[in-house]
Amino acid sequence: MTTEATDPHAALPARPVDPARFTDERLYAHTRLPVELASTLLPDAYTSPEFFALEREKVFADGWVAVACTAEVDRPGACTVVQVAGRSVIVTRNRDGELRAFHNVCRHRATALLAPDAAHVGRGERIRCPYHAWAYDLDGACLGTPLFEGSDIPAGQEAIFDTSPARAFDRADHGLLPVAVDSWGFLVFVNLAADPAPLVEHLGDLPERFAGYRLEQWLPRRRRSYDVAANYKLVGENFMEYYHLPWVHPELSRVSKFSDHYRWQGPGMYTGMCTTPVSGNGDAGGWDGLAPVEGLTGSDADSGRFVWLFPSTAISVLPNHAFVLFNRPVGPARTVETAVILAHPDSVAGPDGEDGLDQLEKFWDLVNRQDLEIVQRVQEGIANPAYRGGRMCFRFEEPLHRFQNMVVDRMVGARRVPGGDAETATRMLPEV
Ligand code: FES
Ligand SMILES: [Fe+2]
Repeated sequence: MTTEATDPHAALPARPVDPARFTDERLYAHTRLPVELASTLLPDAYTSPEFFALEREKVFADGWVAVACTAEVDRPGACTVVQVAGRSVIVTRNRDGELRAFHNVCRHRATALLAPDAAHVGRGERIRCPYHAWAYDLDGACLGTPLFEGSDIPAGQEAIFDTSPARAFDRADHGLLPVAVDSWGFLVFVNLAADPAPLVEHLGDLPERFAGYRLEQWLPRRRRSYDVAANYKLVGENFMEYYHLPWVHPELSRVSKFSDHYRWQGPGMYTGMCTTPVSGNGDAGGWDGLAPVEGLTGSDADSGRFVWLFPSTAISVLPNHAFVLFNRPVGPARTVETAVILAHPDSVAGPDGEDGLDQLEKFWDLVNRQDLEIVQRVQEGIANPAYRGGRMCFRFEEPLHRFQNMVVDRMVGARRVPGGDAETATRMLPEV
């Protein structure tokens, strides 16, 4: 007698999977099952260059992606240059203070207009191409095309710059290529799709859940980046479960007790959990150190909120600070992570503000390095074709199931915003 017939592992698709099947619903049947029965997303989704290329278009180039903090574009002409789905995008504000985003591509011969580290668009609040000096305003309108239309021709050189063959050229047709942009709280989002659904649909009930925090007033205080040898989805899946807490994070377990965790998940393109209440600092630090934002009531005043916002942003909000991870996939097994600590101005106003931030930065760095180390080991294991997928722990990994099904939806062309639990916070451990 063989065991193959009943071995659920053998029933999962053998690897490598033909990339032509990556958009076929049937390939994901095991992940589509209810969480109590489901197996994890196809391992090739974490290793295959073909999957990565498709995912870039279907997930990252066709939906809202958080790319920056609102404070980076806090006035007309201030800008940030971000990478989304392999495209460089300029985010700025126009003269009326409205957010604007454009592909970082000159309409003449495609030069990248701004450098990756640009923080302001340039003199006169104009975006000027470094190649032939075409210039654009903060709404993307093309303002000038030197020596092209005839307007800037030096006296006496008319013959050299005769542009009469350039008929049917109207600057109005050559403005910057726009990108949809919006914000919520302290986050700026862009959407590369031509006609995107409103951001509020993506956010679901998050604006309501976070209404008491006044997140739009919080400012970035510390920033560092991590180069991660793992797929961005592994970073996310690790963030959205606390199953690993006792083994990976002995220090974090002190301040965010395993038994104080709840699922915190309503409708929206996100997964969520919370710790209520959070505990005071342990020997290795914790989340104390800054003053809590005023006006928090109920469980907001003593909880940690942990939201993975699809597709690639982690948001941890405590009463006195937030820790955000912007994860940018750069390859099937490589992610660049930008970590930002934010706080409300009142939280850092006291004489101990900087010390508090130092302490938080040290603690988050410790926790994040623990996460990244284990996530990189998952990447190592998942590359082995002997592994075809594993069972999810129904109690703790429902958010992974929810997230993986969001990814599958996009891969197969379905647009759906998941619903959530009836209760605001759902206890996943049996009461003892
Ligand atoms: S490529 Fe930008 S002005 Fe020519
Ligand atoms: Fe963790």
